[in-house]
Amino acid sequence: MPHVKVFAVINQKGGVGKTTTVANLGAAVAAKGHDVCLIDLDPQAHLTLHFGIEPGSPDTSIYDVLLNEESITSARQKVTENLSVVPSLVDLAAAEVELVTTVGREQILADRRAADDLDHEFVIIDCPPSLGLLTLNALAAADAVLIPLQPHFLALQGLGKLLETVSLVQRRINPRLKVAGVIFCMYETQTRLAGEVVADLEEFLDSMRDQDTPWSQTKIFPTRIRRNIKLAECPSYGSCIFDYDPKSHGANDYLSLAEDFLAIAGSQPASRIEGVTKATPQETEAPSEPVSRIEGVTKATPQETEAPSEPVQPDTQPCSEQDTTPTEPAAQVKDAPADSPDAPPSQQYVATEPERTSQSTGDDDTQPPTTGQTPTSQP
Ligand SMILES: Nc1ncnc2c1ncn2[C@@H]1O[C@H](COP(=O)(O)OP(=O)(O)O)[C@@H](O)[C@H]1O
Ligand SMILES: [Mg+2]
Repeated sequence: MPHVKVFAVINQKGGVGKTTTVANLGAAVAAKGHDVCLIDLDPQAHLTLHFGIEPGSPDTSIYDVLLNEESITSARQKVTENLSVVPSLVDLAAAEVELVTTVGREQILADRRAADDLDHEFVIIDCPPSLGLLTLNALAAADAVLIPLQPHFLALQGLGKLLETVSLVQRRINPRLKVAGVIFCMYETQTRLAGEVVADLEEFLDSMRDQDTPWSQTKIFPTRIRRNIKLAECPSYGSCIFDYDPKSHGANDYLSLAEDFLAIAGSQPASRIEGVTKATPQETEAPSEPVSRIEGVTKATPQETEAPSEPVQPDTQPCSEQDTTPTEPAAQVKDAPADSPDAPPSQQYVATEPERTSQSTGDDDTQPPTTGQTPTSQP
């Protein structure tokens, strides 16, 4: 029996490609023969709609899992042979308020996971665009985090807060939590800026390799998801990209991403994922900028790694079928040990260089010129 592995796809920014990635990566991994369950934890229910499921039409949803003690298996809908979706509901938006007096409210999904007989190889959770209670529930229940990023102006802004939240959850609630990878979405293949953002992030991650943080082993997925209009069109048809346009760049990119994912998740040889992929000359065709541009990305000093003392708090096969046959108990979510001295480096990314431009060519959509940024350490 496979050991279910749970991934939370998070980024507190909206519109970076979380839902598109969960839907199409999930469909691609399922099409390769792996049993996948997707959980829609966003009250906007975009993932639910992406698979043609009308929010509220199924009897049970993730709302019932979190608030009415339903099991995950009873709420899931079968989409294809290997793919199930636990749908969302607009009412989920009220969950943060309804759960305000509930003790352990950030661990409800983890408890359901532990109690449930999830018989999937992979569970992938689509999170809302915030670091609130719903995202905390995903982090508490997950084994690993995937972070979609759009490589443009301020792409890395907010990453420090996101990593700090992951670190707090890892230290206080879920010791096994790791940041597995960063996925670049809506990537402009010919732009200098996209290559620069990747290089900045590589440098930052490389500087963290010997640190004891949940992101010390984080990979940048070699596959970049190019901007492709077919990916934007398919949700309105209630289809994943493989049903809607299997020959599109979008379909090719998500199939390739599924290979990266399986390598990272341990289902295939990890040869594609060795180390961190450097930007290719094509991606950085303009001359590179002085090294000073990325000076802020340095190894965390002891002062920078002082542990934050506050508790974990929220900020505020192609697709289209139905089952429920559980067989295997999921891993238990353990209580976190007491605070460790190795806290996360508090990295914050700020915009500093407004003169950077991008030149988009090729088959992808274009973006207006954008400006660069420099990650800086914050004591
Ligand atoms: N690679 C892509 N190319 C073109 N449009 C995309 C791509 N990825 C996502 N989109 C579109 O961008 C918007 C935001 O993506 P979405 O996945 O919903 O982001 P998030 O879940 O992070 O808010 C959606 O309209 C989606 O269809
Ligand atoms: Mg979304």
